[in-house]
Amino acid sequence: MANAKLAGAKSLAHQMILVTGGAGFIGANFVLDWLARAGEPLVNLDKLTYAGNLTSLASIATDARHLFVRGDIGDAGLVRSLLERHRPRAIVNFAAETHVDRSIHGPGDFIQTNVVGTFALLDCIRAWWRELPPTARDAFRFLHVSTDEVYGSLGPGDPPFSETTAYAPNSPYAASKGSSDHLVRAYHHTYGLPTLTTNCSNNYGPRQFPEKLIPLMIVNALEGRPLPVYGDGRNVRDWLYVGDHASAVRTVLEKGRPGETYNVGGNAEMANIDVVRTICRVVHARRPELDCERLVTFVKDRPGHDRRYAIDASKIRRELGWTPSETFESGLRRTIDWYLDNGDWLASVQNAEYRKWVDLQYA
Ligand code: NAD
Ligand code: TYD
Repeated sequence: MANAKLAGAKSLAHQMILVTGGAGFIGANFVLDWLARAGEPLVNLDKLTYAGNLTSLASIATDARHLFVRGDIGDAGLVRSLLERHRPRAIVNFAAETHVDRSIHGPGDFIQTNVVGTFALLDCIRAWWRELPPTARDAFRFLHVSTDEVYGSLGPGDPPFSETTAYAPNSPYAASKGSSDHLVRAYHHTYGLPTLTTNCSNNYGPRQFPEKLIPLMIVNALEGRPLPVYGDGRNVRDWLYVGDHASAVRTVLEKGRPGETYNVGGNAEMANIDVVRTICRVVHARRPELDCERLVTFVKDRPGHDRRYAIDASKIRRELGWTPSETFESGLRRTIDWYLDNGDWLASVQNAEYRKWVDLQYA
């Protein structure tokens, strides 16, 4: 894909954006939405780890506005050459290691990409950005996509996380994301880099790798395998449909104030066991022969398992006018229908490496 698109992309200096991690779950949905909405061309830098999948981008494989580059955000030489060649007006950083359970088994990759990689990316951007002409420098944006997990865990009666809640990360994943948020903040305060940070709640939707709760449960339900619920199943998450996260990122990129952070959430707090039972109901409605509730299996809890996340998204609603458009039920129906209709995508990610992970985590 890369070479064929290079010539066209080059002539569009400043009329394009650079997206990192755009072959992952949220990044791919963002890229597809961006191009469907006639957004400008974009360069998509992704390392293609186990979580990156070009099948997710198959529908834009011949779209001249999409230039895919396989590479690491921590590769300063590559990032520098992409910046000099394409001169993006904005960068959206989705690239990260993202699965909490994997961060418990092996935190090293999380530190490498989420902390060291984000630092290398920021530092290349700073060096390039400060040489831009003043108008381009002022107009430039670096949007860092982060998570509500940096705030730690809430008790049942605690108010939801706001942008002023103190960081208290509990997993290696959350700690690595929190570190990257601090670096982004420091690059704004120290160097004036026009940064924006979003801290979003749990996403679900099409093209999510089936290691996270919702796609794992859908896939196991369809295959008649156990539905492993950690602990007592009463841990609470706030759920947001991925298309709504993509629209929040577009809104913050367009209207957000440099240096600010914005919490993004779906106003849809649910206990895990209720999420799983809802999945079972929708799957049963679509495929009456599948009775999955009997597959629910309570398993050993995750170490350090955060009890509750909840987001106060009033700042992005009040200041930028963003609200989600899907309810949990409507988004979940769309998600399950997508998995039912996309067996090829699913087969492409359920490879030997995936089976090995499932065996390691659930044996
Ligand atoms: P994902 O794991 O599905 O995808 C991550 C993508 O980043 C993959 O395509 C992978 O190949 C790529 N990548 C990993 N390391 C890289 C590196 N060093 N250089 C370049 N590319 C690299 O993740 P996701 O769920 O799409 O999450 C995207 C972002 O959103 C992450 O920063 C995550 O912390 C944040 N986030 C996720 C959620 C969620 O519920 N999934 C919620 C809030 C915030
Ligand atoms: P997950 O999708 O891994 O997201 P996060 O840990 O980032 O919130 O998990 C969501 C919730 O579901 C979390 O409380 C852990 C729980 N969970 C299970 O009960 N069973 C599972 O097999 C998985 C993957 C998660």
